[in-house]
Amino acid sequence: MASTPRRCDATPAWQSLRQAFEAHGSSFDVRAALRDDPSRVERFTLDAGGVHADLSKNLVDAQVEDLLLQLARDCGLEAQRDAMFAGEKVNATEGRSVLHVLLRAPRGAKGPAAELAQVHGTLDAMLAYADSVRNDAAITDVVNIGIGGSDLGPQMATIALDEFAVPGKRFHFVSNIDGHELAAVLRHLEPQNTLFLVASKTFTTLETMTNARSARQWFTANGGKDVARHFAALTTNVAAAKEFGIDRTFGFWDWVGGRYSMWSAIGLPIAIAIGADRFRDLLAGAHAMDEHFRMAPLERNLPVRLALLDIWYRDFHRFTSRSVAPYHSALRRLPAYLQQLEMESNGKRVDRDGREVPYGTSPVVWGEPGTNGQHAYFQMLHQGTDVIPVEFIAVRKAAHTLEGHHDQLLANVLAQAQALMQGKQDPGGHKHFPGNRPSTMLLLDRLDPRTFGALVAMYEHRVFTAGAIWGINSFDQWGVELGKVLAKDLAPRLATGDVAGLDASTAALVQHLRHR
Ligand code: F6P
Repeated sequence: MASTPRRCDATPAWQSLRQAFEAHGSSFDVRAALRDDPSRVERFTLDAGGVHADLSKNLVDAQVEDLLLQLARDCGLEAQRDAMFAGEKVNATEGRSVLHVLLRAPRGAKGPAAELAQVHGTLDAMLAYADSVRNDAAITDVVNIGIGGSDLGPQMATIALDEFAVPGKRFHFVSNIDGHELAAVLRHLEPQNTLFLVASKTFTTLETMTNARSARQWFTANGGKDVARHFAALTTNVAAAKEFGIDRTFGFWDWVGGRYSMWSAIGLPIAIAIGADRFRDLLAGAHAMDEHFRMAPLERNLPVRLALLDIWYRDFHRFTSRSVAPYHSALRRLPAYLQQLEMESNGKRVDRDGREVPYGTSPVVWGEPGTNGQHAYFQMLHQGTDVIPVEFIAVRKAAHTLEGHHDQLLANVLAQAQALMQGKQDPGGHKHFPGNRPSTMLLLDRLDPRTFGALVAMYEHRVFTAGAIWGINSFDQWGVELGKVLAKDLAPRLATGDVAGLDASTAALVQHLRHR
Protein backbone atom coordinates (compact mmCIF):
# COMPACT_ATOMS: atom_id res chain seq x y z
CA MET A 1 0.00 0.00 0.00
CA ALA A 2 1.55 3.30 -1.08
CA SER A 3 0.52 5.47 1.89
CA THR A 4 -1.16 4.98 5.25
CA PRO A 5 -4.89 5.38 4.64
CA ARG A 6 -6.65 8.28 6.30
CA ARG A 7 -8.99 7.46 9.15
CA CYS A 8 -12.61 8.02 8.22
CA ASP A 9 -13.36 10.70 10.80
CA ALA A 10 -10.43 12.81 9.58
CA THR A 11 -11.69 13.03 6.00
CA PRO A 12 -13.59 15.93 4.44
CA ALA A 13 -16.29 13.48 3.33
CA TRP A 14 -16.98 12.50 6.95
CA GLN A 15 -17.56 16.14 7.88
CA SER A 16 -19.80 16.66 4.85
CA LEU A 17 -21.77 13.56 5.79
CA ARG A 18 -22.28 14.99 9.28
CA GLN A 19 -23.65 18.18 7.76
CA ALA A 20 -25.82 16.29 5.27
CA PHE A 21 -27.24 14.18 8.07
CA GLU A 22 -28.15 17.25 10.12
CA ALA A 23 -29.52 19.13 7.11
CA HIS A 24 -31.73 16.46 5.53
CA GLY A 25 -30.36 12.94 6.13
CA SER A 26 -32.08 12.43 9.46
CA SER A 27 -35.50 13.43 8.11
CA PHE A 28 -35.19 11.64 4.77
CA ASP A 29 -38.49 10.04 3.69
CA VAL A 30 -37.99 7.03 1.47
CA ARG A 31 -41.66 6.95 0.47
CA ALA A 32 -41.44 10.44 -0.97
CA ALA A 33 -38.11 9.66 -2.61
CA LEU A 34 -39.56 6.66 -4.43
CA ARG A 35 -42.60 8.69 -5.46
CA ASP A 36 -40.70 11.74 -6.65
CA ASP A 37 -37.58 10.31 -8.25
CA PRO A 38 -38.28 8.06 -11.25
CA SER A 39 -34.61 7.06 -11.49
CA ARG A 40 -34.25 6.00 -7.84
CA VAL A 41 -34.91 2.29 -8.30
CA GLU A 42 -32.43 2.07 -11.16
CA ARG A 43 -29.75 4.01 -9.30
CA PHE A 44 -30.16 1.84 -6.24
CA THR A 45 -30.38 -1.54 -7.99
CA LEU A 46 -27.25 -3.59 -8.66
CA ASP A 47 -26.48 -7.03 -10.06
CA ALA A 48 -23.32 -8.90 -9.23
CA GLY A 49 -22.36 -12.56 -9.51
CA GLY A 50 -26.01 -13.66 -9.68
CA VAL A 51 -27.09 -11.51 -6.73
CA HIS A 52 -29.76 -8.96 -7.61
CA ALA A 53 -29.85 -6.21 -4.99
CA ASP A 54 -32.52 -3.56 -4.53
CA LEU A 55 -31.21 -0.92 -2.13
CA SER A 56 -33.86 1.66 -3.02
CA LYS A 57 -35.84 1.27 0.23
CA ASN A 58 -32.91 2.56 2.27
CA LEU A 59 -32.74 5.95 3.96
CA VAL A 60 -30.23 7.43 1.58
CA ASP A 61 -30.38 9.87 -1.31
CA ALA A 62 -28.07 10.47 -4.23
CA GLN A 63 -26.17 13.25 -2.46
CA VAL A 64 -25.44 11.12 0.60
CA GLU A 65 -24.54 8.15 -1.59
CA ASP A 66 -22.02 10.34 -3.45
CA LEU A 67 -20.51 11.51 -0.16
CA LEU A 68 -20.27 7.93 1.08
CA LEU A 69 -18.46 6.99 -2.12
CA GLN A 70 -16.15 9.93 -1.58
CA LEU A 71 -15.55 8.69 1.97
CA ALA A 72 -14.48 5.31 0.60
CA ARG A 73 -12.03 7.04 -1.75
CA ASP A 74 -10.73 9.37 0.98
CA CYS A 75 -10.03 6.31 3.16
CA GLY A 76 -8.03 4.66 0.40
CA LEU A 77 -10.45 1.75 0.05
CA GLU A 78 -9.23 0.78 -3.42
CA ALA A 79 -5.57 0.71 -2.33
CA GLN A 80 -6.47 -1.32 0.77
CA ARG A 81 -8.46 -3.78 -1.35
CA ASP A 82 -5.62 -4.14 -3.85
CA ALA A 83 -3.15 -4.67 -0.99
CA MET A 84 -5.26 -7.56 0.30
CA PHE A 85 -5.49 -9.19 -3.15
CA ALA A 86 -1.73 -8.71 -3.64
CA GLY A 87 -0.96 -10.62 -0.45
CA GLU A 88 0.38 -7.72 1.61
CA LYS A 89 0.30 -8.30 5.33
CA VAL A 90 -2.92 -6.38 5.92
CA ASN A 91 -3.51 -8.30 9.16
CA ALA A 92 -0.79 -6.29 10.84
CA THR A 93 -1.37 -7.30 14.47
CA GLU A 94 -0.74 -10.92 13.53
CA GLY A 95 1.75 -10.12 10.75
CA ARG A 96 -0.27 -12.07 8.17
CA SER A 97 -1.55 -11.76 4.65
CA VAL A 98 -5.27 -12.19 4.09
CA LEU A 99 -5.71 -14.33 1.03
CA HIS A 100 -8.97 -16.25 1.27
CA VAL A 101 -9.69 -14.90 -2.23
CA LEU A 102 -6.87 -17.11 -3.47
CA LEU A 103 -8.76 -20.20 -2.30
CA ARG A 104 -11.29 -19.65 -5.07
CA ALA A 105 -8.99 -18.25 -7.76
CA PRO A 106 -8.68 -20.49 -10.81
CA ARG A 107 -5.32 -21.95 -11.84
CA GLY A 108 -3.22 -19.31 -13.56
CA ALA A 109 -5.02 -16.39 -11.92
CA LYS A 110 -3.04 -13.27 -11.04
CA GLY A 111 -1.68 -13.09 -7.49
CA PRO A 112 0.91 -14.88 -5.35
CA ALA A 113 1.89 -17.85 -7.55
CA ALA A 114 3.46 -20.15 -4.96
CA GLU A 115 0.43 -19.90 -2.69
CA LEU A 116 -1.93 -20.46 -5.60
CA ALA A 117 -0.08 -23.65 -6.52
CA GLN A 118 -0.42 -24.89 -2.92
CA VAL A 119 -4.13 -24.08 -2.98
CA HIS A 120 -4.75 -26.14 -6.09
CA GLY A 121 -2.59 -29.04 -4.92
CA THR A 122 -4.59 -29.31 -1.68
CA LEU A 123 -7.91 -28.70 -3.40
CA ASP A 124 -7.33 -31.54 -5.87
CA ALA A 125 -6.37 -33.95 -3.08
CA MET A 126 -9.27 -32.93 -0.88
CA LEU A 127 -11.83 -33.21 -3.67
CA ALA A 128 -10.52 -36.62 -4.72
CA TYR A 129 -10.90 -37.74 -1.11
CA ALA A 130 -14.39 -36.20 -0.91
CA ASP A 131 -15.47 -38.17 -3.95
CA SER A 132 -14.01 -41.38 -2.51
CA VAL A 133 -16.05 -40.86 0.67
CA ARG A 134 -19.15 -40.16 -1.42
CA ASN A 135 -18.63 -43.47 -3.19
CA ASP A 136 -18.03 -45.36 0.04
CA ALA A 137 -21.47 -46.72 0.90
CA ALA A 138 -20.18 -48.00 4.26
CA ILE A 139 -19.80 -44.43 5.49
CA THR A 140 -23.30 -43.23 6.30
CA ASP A 141 -22.46 -40.50 8.82
CA VAL A 142 -19.96 -37.67 8.61
CA VAL A 143 -19.31 -35.81 11.86
CA ASN A 144 -17.57 -32.46 11.64
CA ILE A 145 -15.95 -31.53 14.95
CA GLY A 146 -14.97 -27.86 14.97
CA ILE A 147 -16.11 -24.50 16.30
CA GLY A 148 -16.38 -20.89 15.08
CA GLY A 149 -15.06 -20.66 11.55
CA SER A 150 -14.35 -24.39 11.58
CA ASP A 151 -18.05 -25.06 12.08
CA LEU A 152 -20.31 -22.19 11.01
CA GLY A 153 -19.27 -21.94 7.34
CA PRO A 154 -19.29 -25.66 6.52
CA GLN A 155 -22.46 -26.18 8.51
CA MET A 156 -24.27 -23.27 6.86
CA ALA A 157 -23.18 -24.35 3.37
CA THR A 158 -24.01 -28.03 3.85
CA ILE A 159 -27.52 -27.09 4.95
CA ALA A 160 -27.91 -24.43 2.23
CA LEU A 161 -26.92 -26.87 -0.51
CA ASP A 162 -28.73 -29.90 0.85
CA GLU A 163 -30.73 -30.12 -2.37
CA PHE A 164 -27.49 -31.19 -4.08
CA ALA A 165 -26.30 -33.59 -1.37
CA VAL A 166 -25.36 -37.18 -2.00
CA PRO A 167 -28.16 -39.51 -0.87
CA GLY A 168 -27.48 -41.99 1.92
CA LYS A 169 -25.23 -39.84 4.07
CA ARG A 170 -26.03 -37.74 7.11
CA PHE A 171 -23.95 -34.75 8.17
CA HIS A 172 -23.54 -33.76 11.80
CA PHE A 173 -21.82 -30.70 13.23
CA VAL A 174 -20.52 -30.84 16.77
CA SER A 175 -19.00 -27.66 18.16
CA ASN A 176 -19.90 -27.08 21.79
CA ILE A 177 -17.79 -28.16 24.76
CA ASP A 178 -21.15 -29.11 26.26
CA GLY A 179 -21.01 -32.90 26.12
CA HIS A 180 -24.76 -33.07 25.52
CA GLU A 181 -24.15 -32.07 21.94
CA LEU A 182 -21.63 -34.79 21.09
CA ALA A 183 -23.49 -37.40 23.16
CA ALA A 184 -26.73 -36.69 21.28
CA VAL A 185 -24.98 -37.31 17.95
CA LEU A 186 -22.99 -40.39 19.03
CA ARG A 187 -26.13 -42.05 20.35
CA HIS A 188 -27.27 -42.66 16.76
CA LEU A 189 -23.95 -43.74 15.24
CA GLU A 190 -22.00 -46.94 14.58
CA PRO A 191 -18.20 -46.60 14.50
CA GLN A 192 -17.78 -48.63 11.31
CA ASN A 193 -20.17 -46.30 9.44
CA THR A 194 -18.80 -43.02 10.75
CA LEU A 195 -16.19 -40.59 9.48
CA PHE A 196 -14.99 -37.92 11.92
CA LEU A 197 -13.51 -34.73 10.51
CA VAL A 198 -11.56 -32.82 13.13
CA ALA A 199 -11.60 -29.24 11.86
CA SER A 200 -9.41 -26.68 13.59
CA LYS A 201 -7.11 -24.09 12.11
CA THR A 202 -4.88 -24.18 15.19
CA PHE A 203 -5.64 -27.73 16.38
CA THR A 204 -5.47 -26.40 19.93
CA THR A 205 -9.01 -25.11 20.48
CA LEU A 206 -10.33 -26.46 23.78
CA GLU A 207 -13.81 -27.40 22.56
CA THR A 208 -12.62 -29.14 19.43
CA MET A 209 -9.79 -31.06 21.05
CA THR A 210 -12.04 -32.17 23.92
CA ASN A 211 -14.73 -33.36 21.49
CA ALA A 212 -12.16 -35.03 19.23
CA ARG A 213 -10.66 -36.96 22.16
CA SER A 214 -14.12 -38.07 23.32
CA ALA A 215 -15.05 -39.12 19.79
CA ARG A 216 -11.90 -41.22 19.49
CA GLN A 217 -12.55 -42.78 22.87
CA TRP A 218 -16.14 -43.61 21.87
CA PHE A 219 -14.87 -45.02 18.57
CA THR A 220 -12.44 -47.49 20.15
CA ALA A 221 -14.69 -48.29 23.14
CA ASN A 222 -17.45 -49.29 20.71
CA GLY A 223 -15.32 -51.64 18.66
CA GLY A 224 -14.17 -49.15 16.05
CA LYS A 225 -11.12 -50.29 14.11
CA ASP A 226 -8.85 -48.35 11.80
CA VAL A 227 -8.67 -44.82 13.16
CA ALA A 228 -6.82 -43.86 9.97
CA ARG A 229 -9.89 -44.65 7.85
CA HIS A 230 -12.41 -43.07 10.20
CA PHE A 231 -10.68 -39.82 11.21
CA ALA A 232 -9.33 -36.99 9.10
CA ALA A 233 -7.97 -33.61 10.18
CA LEU A 234 -8.48 -30.22 8.53
CA THR A 235 -5.89 -27.85 9.91
CA THR A 236 -2.89 -25.60 9.42
CA ASN A 237 -1.17 -27.51 12.25
CA VAL A 238 -0.34 -30.81 10.59
CA ALA A 239 2.17 -31.74 13.33
CA ALA A 240 -0.46 -31.45 16.08
CA ALA A 241 -2.90 -33.57 14.09
CA LYS A 242 -0.24 -36.23 13.67
CA GLU A 243 0.54 -36.14 17.35
CA PHE A 244 -3.17 -36.60 18.05
CA GLY A 245 -2.98 -39.76 15.94
CA ILE A 246 -4.57 -38.59 12.69
CA ASP A 247 -2.54 -39.33 9.58
CA ARG A 248 -4.93 -38.11 6.92
CA THR A 249 -4.67 -34.33 7.02
CA PHE A 250 -5.81 -31.67 4.58
CA GLY A 251 -3.95 -28.47 5.27
CA PHE A 252 -4.42 -24.78 4.83
CA TRP A 253 -2.36 -21.73 5.72
CA ASP A 254 -2.07 -18.96 8.25
CA TRP A 255 -3.20 -16.45 5.62
CA VAL A 256 -6.71 -17.97 5.76
CA GLY A 257 -8.65 -16.51 8.69
CA GLY A 258 -10.85 -18.98 10.57
CA ARG A 259 -14.05 -17.16 9.65
CA TYR A 260 -12.96 -17.01 5.99
CA SER A 261 -12.01 -20.68 5.76
CA MET A 262 -14.99 -22.56 4.34
CA TRP A 263 -13.35 -22.40 0.89
CA SER A 264 -10.29 -24.26 2.17
CA ALA A 265 -9.90 -27.80 3.52
CA ILE A 266 -12.40 -26.70 6.18
CA GLY A 267 -14.95 -27.07 3.37
CA LEU A 268 -14.42 -30.84 3.19
CA PRO A 269 -17.88 -31.72 4.61
CA ILE A 270 -19.44 -29.46 1.95
CA ALA A 271 -17.40 -31.22 -0.74
CA ILE A 272 -18.43 -34.65 0.53
CA ALA A 273 -22.05 -33.54 0.50
CA ILE A 274 -22.20 -31.90 -2.95
CA GLY A 275 -19.22 -33.47 -4.76
CA ALA A 276 -16.13 -32.09 -6.42
CA ASP A 277 -17.76 -30.43 -9.43
CA ARG A 278 -20.30 -28.56 -7.38
CA PHE A 279 -17.68 -27.55 -4.83
CA ARG A 280 -15.76 -26.05 -7.74
CA ASP A 281 -18.97 -24.22 -8.74
CA LEU A 282 -19.17 -22.83 -5.21
CA LEU A 283 -15.62 -21.52 -5.56
CA ALA A 284 -16.40 -20.16 -9.03
CA GLY A 285 -19.38 -18.21 -7.67
CA ALA A 286 -17.22 -16.70 -4.95
CA HIS A 287 -14.51 -15.91 -7.50
CA ALA A 288 -17.03 -14.09 -9.70
CA MET A 289 -17.88 -11.89 -6.70
CA ASP A 290 -14.16 -11.39 -5.98
CA GLU A 291 -13.67 -10.14 -9.52
CA HIS A 292 -16.67 -7.86 -9.22
CA PHE A 293 -15.33 -6.43 -5.95
CA ARG A 294 -11.85 -6.01 -7.44
CA MET A 295 -12.88 -4.47 -10.76
CA ALA A 296 -16.27 -2.78 -10.59
CA PRO A 297 -16.27 0.98 -10.06
CA LEU A 298 -17.19 1.81 -6.47
CA GLU A 299 -20.57 3.25 -7.46
CA ARG A 300 -21.61 -0.08 -9.07
CA ASN A 301 -19.80 -2.28 -6.57
CA LEU A 302 -22.29 -4.28 -4.54
CA PRO A 303 -20.21 -5.12 -1.43
CA VAL A 304 -19.03 -1.51 -1.33
CA ARG A 305 -22.53 -0.05 -1.62
CA LEU A 306 -23.79 -2.33 1.17
CA ALA A 307 -20.87 -1.45 3.44
CA LEU A 308 -21.44 2.27 2.85
CA LEU A 309 -25.02 1.88 4.00
CA ASP A 310 -23.73 0.06 7.09
CA ILE A 311 -21.53 3.04 7.89
CA TRP A 312 -24.27 5.58 7.22
CA TYR A 313 -26.64 3.72 9.54
CA ARG A 314 -24.12 2.94 12.27
CA ASP A 315 -22.29 6.25 12.50
CA PHE A 316 -24.76 8.86 11.38
CA HIS A 317 -28.22 7.44 12.16
CA ARG A 318 -26.62 5.55 15.09
CA PHE A 319 -28.62 2.40 14.48
CA THR A 320 -26.98 -0.34 16.51
CA SER A 321 -28.17 -3.51 14.83
CA ARG A 322 -29.10 -5.05 11.51
CA SER A 323 -31.51 -7.92 11.08
CA VAL A 324 -30.98 -10.55 8.41
CA ALA A 325 -34.08 -12.38 7.22
CA PRO A 326 -33.45 -15.14 4.71
CA TYR A 327 -36.72 -16.22 3.10
CA HIS A 328 -35.39 -19.70 2.39
CA SER A 329 -35.26 -22.27 5.14
CA ALA A 330 -32.02 -23.72 3.76
CA LEU A 331 -30.36 -20.40 4.62
CA ARG A 332 -31.30 -20.77 8.27
CA ARG A 333 -27.70 -20.77 9.50
CA LEU A 334 -26.75 -17.69 7.49
CA PRO A 335 -27.48 -15.26 10.36
CA ALA A 336 -25.28 -17.28 12.74
CA TYR A 337 -22.52 -17.38 10.15
CA LEU A 338 -22.79 -13.62 9.63
CA GLN A 339 -22.59 -13.01 13.35
CA GLN A 340 -19.09 -14.42 13.38
CA LEU A 341 -18.09 -12.95 10.04
CA GLU A 342 -19.20 -9.43 10.87
CA MET A 343 -18.97 -9.16 14.63
CA GLU A 344 -15.69 -11.02 15.09
CA SER A 345 -14.19 -9.10 12.17
CA ASN A 346 -15.44 -5.60 12.87
CA GLY A 347 -16.30 -5.67 16.56
CA LYS A 348 -13.22 -3.57 17.34
CA ARG A 349 -12.73 -0.48 19.49
CA VAL A 350 -9.29 0.65 18.33
CA ASP A 351 -7.95 1.58 14.92
CA ARG A 352 -4.99 -0.02 13.19
CA ASP A 353 -2.62 2.10 15.30
CA GLY A 354 -4.28 1.04 18.55
CA ARG A 355 -6.05 4.37 19.09
CA GLU A 356 -9.58 4.24 20.45
CA VAL A 357 -12.10 5.12 17.75
CA PRO A 358 -14.75 7.75 18.54
CA TYR A 359 -17.35 6.17 16.21
CA GLY A 360 -19.35 2.97 16.16
CA THR A 361 -18.04 -0.11 14.38
CA SER A 362 -19.81 -3.45 13.86
CA PRO A 363 -23.55 -3.42 14.41
CA VAL A 364 -25.21 -6.37 16.14
CA VAL A 365 -26.22 -8.79 13.40
CA TRP A 366 -29.11 -11.13 14.09
CA GLY A 367 -32.08 -12.82 12.49
CA GLU A 368 -34.10 -15.88 11.65
CA PRO A 369 -35.60 -17.21 8.46
CA GLY A 370 -38.83 -15.76 7.18
CA THR A 371 -41.70 -16.20 7.51
CA ASN A 372 -40.96 -17.52 11.05
CA GLY A 373 -39.47 -14.21 12.18
CA GLN A 374 -42.71 -12.44 11.22
CA HIS A 375 -44.51 -14.38 13.94
CA ALA A 376 -41.84 -13.66 16.54
CA TYR A 377 -39.85 -10.42 16.54
CA PHE A 378 -41.13 -8.53 13.48
CA GLN A 379 -43.52 -6.71 15.81
CA MET A 380 -40.51 -4.82 17.12
CA LEU A 381 -39.18 -4.12 13.63
CA HIS A 382 -42.49 -2.50 12.69
CA GLN A 383 -43.50 -0.72 15.88
CA GLY A 384 -40.59 -0.84 18.32
CA THR A 385 -38.75 2.28 19.45
CA ASP A 386 -35.53 1.36 17.61
CA VAL A 387 -35.09 1.52 13.87
CA ILE A 388 -33.43 -1.69 12.69
CA PRO A 389 -32.50 -1.97 9.02
CA VAL A 390 -33.60 -5.33 7.67
CA GLU A 391 -31.88 -7.34 4.99
CA PHE A 392 -34.24 -9.66 3.15
CA ILE A 393 -32.86 -12.51 1.07
CA ALA A 394 -35.14 -14.43 -1.26
CA VAL A 395 -34.81 -16.91 -4.10
CA ARG A 396 -36.79 -16.59 -7.32
CA LYS A 397 -37.12 -20.30 -8.18
CA ALA A 398 -38.02 -22.87 -5.57
CA ALA A 399 -36.31 -26.25 -5.40
CA HIS A 400 -39.60 -28.01 -4.69
CA THR A 401 -42.90 -28.41 -6.52
CA LEU A 402 -45.29 -27.99 -3.59
CA GLU A 403 -48.14 -25.93 -4.90
CA GLY A 404 -48.67 -22.39 -3.64
CA HIS A 405 -45.88 -22.27 -1.08
CA HIS A 406 -43.31 -20.31 -2.99
CA ASP A 407 -45.64 -17.59 -4.22
CA GLN A 408 -46.87 -17.11 -0.67
CA LEU A 409 -43.30 -16.95 0.60
CA LEU A 410 -42.32 -14.36 -2.01
CA ALA A 411 -45.49 -12.35 -1.40
CA ASN A 412 -44.59 -12.25 2.28
CA VAL A 413 -41.03 -11.07 1.79
CA LEU A 414 -42.21 -8.28 -0.49
CA ALA A 415 -45.04 -7.40 1.88
CA GLN A 416 -42.74 -7.09 4.90
CA ALA A 417 -40.40 -4.71 3.07
CA GLN A 418 -43.40 -2.75 1.88
CA ALA A 419 -44.98 -2.60 5.34
CA LEU A 420 -41.75 -1.46 6.99
CA MET A 421 -41.50 1.34 4.48
CA GLN A 422 -45.14 2.39 4.07
CA GLY A 423 -46.31 2.18 7.64
CA LYS A 424 -49.98 2.68 8.47
CA GLN A 425 -51.72 5.76 9.75
CA ASP A 426 -53.56 5.52 13.06
CA PRO A 427 -52.22 8.61 14.83
CA GLY A 428 -52.15 8.13 18.57
CA GLY A 429 -53.51 4.60 18.21
CA HIS A 430 -52.03 1.18 18.84
CA LYS A 431 -52.38 0.32 15.17
CA HIS A 432 -50.10 3.14 14.02
CA PHE A 433 -47.01 1.97 12.13
CA PRO A 434 -44.56 4.86 11.66
CA GLY A 435 -43.12 3.37 8.45
CA ASN A 436 -40.02 4.80 6.73
CA ARG A 437 -38.11 1.81 8.11
CA PRO A 438 -35.26 0.81 5.83
CA SER A 439 -34.66 -2.53 4.17
CA THR A 440 -32.54 -4.10 1.48
CA MET A 441 -33.76 -6.87 -0.81
CA LEU A 442 -31.26 -9.43 -2.09
CA LEU A 443 -32.59 -11.85 -4.70
CA LEU A 444 -30.95 -14.97 -6.06
CA ASP A 445 -32.27 -16.69 -9.14
CA ARG A 446 -32.02 -20.01 -7.33
CA LEU A 447 -30.06 -21.33 -4.42
CA ASP A 448 -27.24 -23.30 -6.02
CA PRO A 449 -23.51 -23.63 -5.32
CA ARG A 450 -22.59 -20.77 -7.64
CA THR A 451 -25.05 -18.16 -6.38
CA PHE A 452 -24.51 -19.22 -2.79
CA GLY A 453 -20.74 -18.85 -3.21
CA ALA A 454 -21.26 -15.37 -4.63
CA LEU A 455 -23.58 -14.40 -1.78
CA VAL A 456 -21.12 -15.43 0.93
CA ALA A 457 -18.19 -13.72 -0.82
CA MET A 458 -20.31 -10.59 -1.11
CA TYR A 459 -20.67 -10.54 2.66
CA GLU A 460 -16.93 -11.07 3.15
CA HIS A 461 -16.08 -8.09 0.96
CA ARG A 462 -18.73 -5.94 2.57
CA VAL A 463 -17.15 -6.64 5.96
CA PHE A 464 -13.72 -5.86 4.51
CA THR A 465 -14.97 -2.57 3.07
CA ALA A 466 -16.56 -1.39 6.31
CA GLY A 467 -13.45 -2.38 8.28
CA ALA A 468 -11.16 -0.60 5.79
CA ILE A 469 -13.18 2.61 6.09
CA TRP A 470 -13.35 2.36 9.88
CA GLY A 471 -9.56 1.91 9.84
CA ILE A 472 -9.66 -1.21 12.00
CA ASN A 473 -8.04 -4.60 11.58
CA SER A 474 -10.90 -6.89 10.50
CA PHE A 475 -8.69 -9.96 10.64
CA ASP A 476 -7.65 -10.42 14.25
CA GLN A 477 -9.83 -11.39 17.23
CA TRP A 478 -7.92 -10.61 20.42
CA GLY A 479 -11.22 -10.04 22.21
CA VAL A 480 -11.88 -13.77 22.48
CA GLU A 481 -8.65 -14.53 24.35
CA LEU A 482 -9.34 -13.21 27.85
CA GLY A 483 -12.33 -15.49 28.46
CA LYS A 484 -10.28 -18.50 27.34
CA VAL A 485 -7.52 -17.67 29.84
CA LEU A 486 -9.99 -17.16 32.68
CA ALA A 487 -11.80 -20.44 31.90
CA LYS A 488 -8.46 -22.24 32.19
CA ASP A 489 -8.03 -20.77 35.65
CA LEU A 490 -11.61 -21.55 36.72
CA ALA A 491 -11.83 -25.18 35.58
CA PRO A 492 -9.61 -26.58 38.38
CA ARG A 493 -11.25 -24.26 40.92
CA LEU A 494 -14.60 -25.92 40.20
CA ALA A 495 -12.98 -29.19 41.19
CA THR A 496 -11.03 -27.98 44.24
CA GLY A 497 -13.28 -25.17 45.49
CA ASP A 498 -10.34 -22.80 45.70
CA VAL A 499 -11.82 -19.32 45.29
CA ALA A 500 -8.81 -17.34 46.51
CA GLY A 501 -8.31 -14.12 44.57
CA LEU A 502 -11.66 -14.30 42.75
CA ASP A 503 -14.15 -11.44 42.83
CA ALA A 504 -16.99 -12.00 45.29
CA SER A 505 -19.61 -12.73 42.63
CA THR A 506 -17.56 -15.35 40.77
CA ALA A 507 -16.44 -16.92 44.05
CA ALA A 508 -20.06 -17.33 45.20
CA LEU A 509 -21.05 -18.81 41.84
CA VAL A 510 -18.16 -21.31 41.95
CA GLN A 511 -19.29 -22.39 45.41
CA HIS A 512 -22.91 -22.67 44.29
CA LEU A 513 -21.97 -24.83 41.29
CA ARG A 514 -19.78 -27.11 43.41
CA HIS A 515 -22.83 -28.13 45.41
CA ARG A 516 -24.65 -29.41 42.32
O1 F6P B 1 -11.88 -18.18 19.54
C1 F6P B 1 -12.21 -17.65 18.31
C2 F6P B 1 -11.64 -18.50 17.20
O2 F6P B 1 -10.27 -18.34 17.14
C3 F6P B 1 -12.28 -18.16 15.86
O3 F6P B 1 -11.71 -17.06 15.26
C4 F6P B 1 -12.08 -19.43 15.12
O4 F6P B 1 -12.90 -19.51 13.99
C5 F6P B 1 -12.44 -20.42 16.19
O5 F6P B 1 -11.92 -19.87 17.38
C6 F6P B 1 -11.92 -21.81 15.99
O6 F6P B 1 -10.54 -21.85 15.90
P1 F6P B 1 -9.80 -23.12 15.32
O7 F6P B 1 -10.24 -23.33 13.92
O8 F6P B 1 -8.34 -22.82 15.43
O9 F6P B 1 -10.16 -24.30 16.18
